[in-house]
Amino acid sequence: MIKRILLTGSFGQIGSELTCALRKIYGGENVIATDLDLNRVTDKIKNGGPIEQLDVLDGKRLAELIDKYQIDAIFHLAAILSAVGEKNPMLAWNINMGGTINVYNVAKEKGIKRIFAPSSMAAFGPTTPADMTPQDTVLQPSTMYGITKVSCELLGQYYIDKFGMDIRGVRYPGIISSETLPGGGTTDYAVQIYYDAIKYGKFECFLSENSMLPMMYMPDCLKATIDLFHAEKSRLKHSTGYNIAAFSVTPKDMYESVKKYMPNLEIVYKPDFRQAIADSWPNSIDDSCARAEWDWKPAYDLDTMTREMLDLVGAKYKAGKF
Ligand code: NAD
Ligand code: SER
Repeated sequence: MIKRILLTGSFGQIGSELTCALRKIYGGENVIATDLDLNRVTDKIKNGGPIEQLDVLDGKRLAELIDKYQIDAIFHLAAILSAVGEKNPMLAWNINMGGTINVYNVAKEKGIKRIFAPSSMAAFGPTTPADMTPQDTVLQPSTMYGITKVSCELLGQYYIDKFGMDIRGVRYPGIISSETLPGGGTTDYAVQIYYDAIKYGKFECFLSENSMLPMMYMPDCLKATIDLFHAEKSRLKHSTGYNIAAFSVTPKDMYESVKKYMPNLEIVYKPDFRQAIADSWPNSIDDSCARAEWDWKPAYDLDTMTREMLDLVGAKYKAGKF
């Protein structure tokens, strides 16, 4: 039975909300939030349970924390995302590969079998079928981020096969959320549009208007993560890289969705280097394996998400938080 969990990269976009969700299930004291950058911590995480500084490249420190808290499962979220990774490929390679193999090796040495390590739709590339991308398909990404994601899926499977570890992961699409801003990906525009709509009434988009990408709202991301972590092992056939999907949208769709509630919103499209990354990713994803093997089903579509995002981001603006 899982009693104590450690998260890496806890103060990022997903970690800042996943930490709180796991603390609701396992108790605040039993979920240890770690990150390289303690300055990023939110009050909610700081006040809700233990926090520790941890560079995922530092295996000795990870081993000390595992002993200190008697950890029996790890959610490994620390990573460099696609846009930052294309600006600094060696950083992405070092943190994403070095951090992941460190986590797996230290976990193995300490007898920890349960690890959740997310992959991404960035594992796909320009030669992958772009529409309803299947679970088992071509994995030839053209970004350094994607190369590390495919490699970490394979590495996870290796540690499962060779060492009997229980490593699970999903290929997240672009995640949209209101708590913590995203950390430098290609789908960040789909979060920023809400902030800029509320603050400025206009938005400059770094992707072109018809650039279709799979996206998901944070409550569904958390549900997928926790449901897969708790899923019955005997039902799982794919383990480290499940396709999951909620809805696919273009920047124009996002604009029209927000404009329904903010009719004066203006948008300009100024595609930059991130356009090539977006062009290499799928338009839509077939998540039927996740649905069949662990009953995955999203709850939010674009419009239900937009209504909630505008409320939450609007409340942050009124409270003077940006
Ligand atoms: P993020 O960039 O918001 O957060 C990453 C966190 O890792 C940051 O808090 C950062 O300080 C920390 N970090 C960076 N280097 C570190 C190091 N050396 N040691 C310890 N911590 C370090 O990322 P996120 O969006 O929360 O992503 C979490 C995971 O989900 C990643 O594996 C990412 O690839 C994956 N993912 C995210 C999305 C998305 O849309 N957010 C989509 C697909 C996959
Ligand atoms: N949202 C992520 C990115 O854009 C996808 O992995 O990098």
